[in-house]
Amino acid sequence: MAFNVQEIRKDFPILQREVNGKPLVYLDNAATAQKPQAVIDCIVDYYSNYNANIHRGVHSLSQEATDAYEGARKKIQEHFNIKHAHEVIFTAGTTHGINLVANGFNKFLKKGDEIIVSALEHHSNIVPWQMLCERTGAELKVIPIDEKGVLILSEYEKLLSKNTKLVFVNHISNALGTINPIAEIIEKAHEKGAAVLVDGAQSCSHIKPDLQALDVDFYVTSAHKMCGPTGVGILYGKEEWLNKIPPYQGGGEMIAEVTFKKTTYAGLPHKFEAGTPNISGGIAFGAAIDYLNSIGFNEIEAHEHELLRYATDQLTTIEGLKIYGTGVDKTSVISFNIEGIHPYDIGTIVDKLGIAVRTGHHCAQPIMDYYKIPGTVRASFAFYNTKEEVDALVKAVKKAKTMLT
Ligand code: ALA
Repeated sequence: MAFNVQEIRKDFPILQREVNGKPLVYLDNAATAQKPQAVIDCIVDYYSNYNANIHRGVHSLSQEATDAYEGARKKIQEHFNIKHAHEVIFTAGTTHGINLVANGFNKFLKKGDEIIVSALEHHSNIVPWQMLCERTGAELKVIPIDEKGVLILSEYEKLLSKNTKLVFVNHISNALGTINPIAEIIEKAHEKGAAVLVDGAQSCSHIKPDLQALDVDFYVTSAHKMCGPTGVGILYGKEEWLNKIPPYQGGGEMIAEVTFKKTTYAGLPHKFEAGTPNISGGIAFGAAIDYLNSIGFNEIEAHEHELLRYATDQLTTIEGLKIYGTGVDKTSVISFNIEGIHPYDIGTIVDKLGIAVRTGHHCAQPIMDYYKIPGTVRASFAFYNTKEEVDALVKAVKKAKTMLT
């Protein structure tokens, strides 16, 4: 089906509403994407028709819910081209997945070992590794960026050594939109025998990654960035790694046998899925993936790229406006400031005009420190945004500039 943005917008009830008396212009998609009716209906259907706990009962409702949940795991497996469905662990989201892996590496690291992260990371891909270093005595090294907000790969190569045990990098920077060369990063880490975790939270809504082709060891992401619900995500891990890593949480469903003397753990994926999971969330994650694939990732990328080009051209006509993150490979995120104006003030004025953007450090303070700024205004576009909405943003930013200078 040909890509028709006006038809697509009809799938999203929230896009029909007004904010502060103006049509909503939602440009905070990097924070969370809006939900199509198909995903909302899927959640309502679960609670209306087959709400039951999974993997536990022989009764029909429990079987139906289990089939739907495991069906979603299979969809996720296929979408990301993962070898085995049991390598897909349902989590509460990206942060949970990262902490699960960081906790699992407690027993593999010692003083003298090194972990590499990039200067483009979200706090969720910095703090858990700092905590891991505190626990194990390992050292954290950082791949620097250049003025364009692009990783300096020659510096990465210098950081890699036989002591490197782990490399963590996001696929796309949430604050700047830079797309990182993850295939190259993974290959170089593997040459030194280090494992790699890729944080796909910002890329999964724009790019369909082939995890087997990438040969990545761990991949984490969140459903809500892909038009799915909040509070659910996945950790992918290669089977051999997931077998080696100890469970993160103890509880029901993650055991083979429990006595007061000793407990043995269930196999994958249940070993990492203690307690009743977010059942409707998992099922709706599958529905979100179906929805995005029905639009098509090539079509999504092409439309968003055009919005990025158009918005960049329009915004740079505003005198004093500086865009942070100007690498060639970037997605539909524009982080900017206007000389002499605090980003928060711009965000507040454009909100009065119905436009939602994020302001602040975007949970990426080291990037802000690099540019010596307190934060930015960030407009992040999705496939359901339009050029008219870009025009509305540009007009609103111009108005904010006039009011604030
Ligand atoms: N990580 C999300 C963002 O970039 C919340 O806004």
